[in-house]
Amino acid sequence: MDSIRIRGGRPLKGTIPISGAKNAALPLMTASLLTDGTLTLANLPHLVDITTMANLLMSHGVALHMNGGGKGGRVLELRAREITNTTAHYDLVRKMRASILVLGPILAREGQARVSLPGGCAIGARPVDLHLKALEQMGATIAIDGGYVEARVDGRLKGAHLVFPQVTVTGTENILMAATLADGETIIDNAAREPEVTDLANCLLAMGAEIEGVGTPRLVVRGKESLHGASHSVLPDRIEAGSYAVAAAITRGRLLLQHADASQMSALTKVLAAAGAEITVRDDGLLVDAENREIRGVDVMTEPHPGFPTDMQAQVMALFATARGAAMVTETIFENRFMHVPELKRMGADINIHNGSAIVRGVARLSGAPVMATDLRASMSLVLAGLAAEGETVVNRVYHLDRGYERLEQKLAACGAAIERLRD
Ligand code: UD1
Repeated sequence: MDSIRIRGGRPLKGTIPISGAKNAALPLMTASLLTDGTLTLANLPHLVDITTMANLLMSHGVALHMNGGGKGGRVLELRAREITNTTAHYDLVRKMRASILVLGPILAREGQARVSLPGGCAIGARPVDLHLKALEQMGATIAIDGGYVEARVDGRLKGAHLVFPQVTVTGTENILMAATLADGETIIDNAAREPEVTDLANCLLAMGAEIEGVGTPRLVVRGKESLHGASHSVLPDRIEAGSYAVAAAITRGRLLLQHADASQMSALTKVLAAAGAEITVRDDGLLVDAENREIRGVDVMTEPHPGFPTDMQAQVMALFATARGAAMVTETIFENRFMHVPELKRMGADINIHNGSAIVRGVARLSGAPVMATDLRASMSLVLAGLAAEGETVVNRVYHLDRGYERLEQKLAACGAAIERLRD
């Protein structure tokens, strides 16, 4: 298995181009299941999760055609002329929890869907009960059999007034897609407001859906007989941009995050500014400058958007491990999202966990070590810690990083990092 070797201690300077957002691209790809027309998606990132989703969609009969590549991101044409298979198999679903996003569209279009239940994952139990309850309220009959969700509806799904008891991103996306082909009006209250949900809603509007309240916690959808093809460009990845913003801060460097959309990142930029970095919003992206600056600890609590994203918690914890003073980092979204803590401690970090909070006391220097993590963002926090640490860090289990960071080593090396992939 590949690993990444980093020799730390170099301030990063330069420009990093930000790719299309993984967590927007995945639901957008599944939206192709809602129509027999062609959905063209531009600015698609080149990531393992995107390939996994492409394979899943092909197993349902979606024809895929990839154009271009390189700097402008790839363009993918998806056409589900017919859904040839309504079962999403365990082999593909187990690789990626976001596979559950095929459930709503296939059920809405075909009246039946059989999707392997995604298991728990490294960051918690992560059930999909809220997706299923909402579909039941829309008239579906749901059974769990042999590890599969079996969903059926006589005729079309029916519009309903749904209130999510807890904000769920993929839950909102699944139901939003299903509602576009339901009979009548669906109201989704306490909907997730993440930019990726808004990106999906905008694409569905371009496909002919009728949706009000986009970007708010109340989405109102009036179902249509059918949707049509459309073209859509995937929004920039705010978590990739945020991770590199932390790279600038943790190495006390200066990075321009090209294409980053600062309007989607204000919770993070506020924290970084309070910590002592200078943040400048420019036409071409976001400039993060921490050269010759002191970085201080800042308390952070994860919340649904527009609050501080849980997907940035591990990365800022690495930053605060090198900051002056203490920071309290509280995780409220996932119950088990501190697996990076023991690994950061192996690099010399001073962190204590009390229930859902971690007290991080900054140390003068982290020291390089062999480390590994069991999820994507935790792995990134170890890369960031390695960039700041004295000596050599080897991050193992790189396949987690390949799921979510496009050309990670190249992007960092271009800005002066001593980083390389060791192939096995
Ligand atoms: C999405 C993101 C993930 C991010 C997370 C929170 C994608 C592909 N993934 O994951 O990167 O960390 O949002 O911002 O977009 N829950 C239930 N029952 C459900 C659904 C969720 O109890 O049916 C709980 C979860 O266990 C978790 C919380 O609700 O504690 C939020 O989860 P959710 O927003 O659904 O996360 P995902 O959509 O899986």
